[in-house]
Amino acid sequence: MKFFADTAEIADIAELAATGLLDGVTTNPSLIAKSGRDFMEVTREICALVDGPVSAEVVALDHPTMMKEADILRKIADNVCIKVPLTIDGLKTCKALTGEGTMVNVTLCFSANQALLAAKAGATFVSPFVGRHDDNGFDGMELIRDIRLIYDNYSFATEILVASIRHPVHVLESARIGADVATMPPAVIRSLVKHVLTDKGIEGFLADWAKTGQTILK
Ligand code: E4P
Repeated sequence: MKFFADTAEIADIAELAATGLLDGVTTNPSLIAKSGRDFMEVTREICALVDGPVSAEVVALDHPTMMKEADILRKIADNVCIKVPLTIDGLKTCKALTGEGTMVNVTLCFSANQALLAAKAGATFVSPFVGRHDDNGFDGMELIRDIRLIYDNYSFATEILVASIRHPVHVLESARIGADVATMPPAVIRSLVKHVLTDKGIEGFLADWAKTGQTILK
């Protein structure tokens, strides 16, 4: 499963990219606003930091203007992935852009039928929002299970990019189901490595090692 960072914070992205475990980045207008940075400038910096896809979202709601915005965004770098909302105009834009060889992430997916449409429009990625789904009394992971089943039934190549992840259990369930990508806030990515027994184990080994009086580096 690929790991994307769901953020526009350069320091976090640089730190995670240095681990060699980061496969891409997703941004959205809210994350850009939170960063306080210029959209074009910060997107250019992110694209230079990671080799994988970097989602940059259009803000127009009509197809012709979405195409104009996408044309500006895709010139930023070869790894820009245009993010469009799951609307008829977004799907039209998806179809046109992927037809021209541009990566597209269809975002704000909340139903399996919407995901089916995104795949039919040739989306590179579809982004079902599990956290927001849970918040509204639905089962976010059930949505991922349905999309996996439907995509496998028809061998759709669209990758399931699980979004709006809030905690490590969302990541675990996504991996169990066979989602292709999980995009997570940096804090969730960092939390995946933590286990109290790992910390305790290191502490015990180091205490016993100290008793031997040995060193590995001479
Ligand atoms: C995905 O691409 C979105 O940027 C993101 O996952 C939304 O998450 P939120 O529901 O925590 O805002």
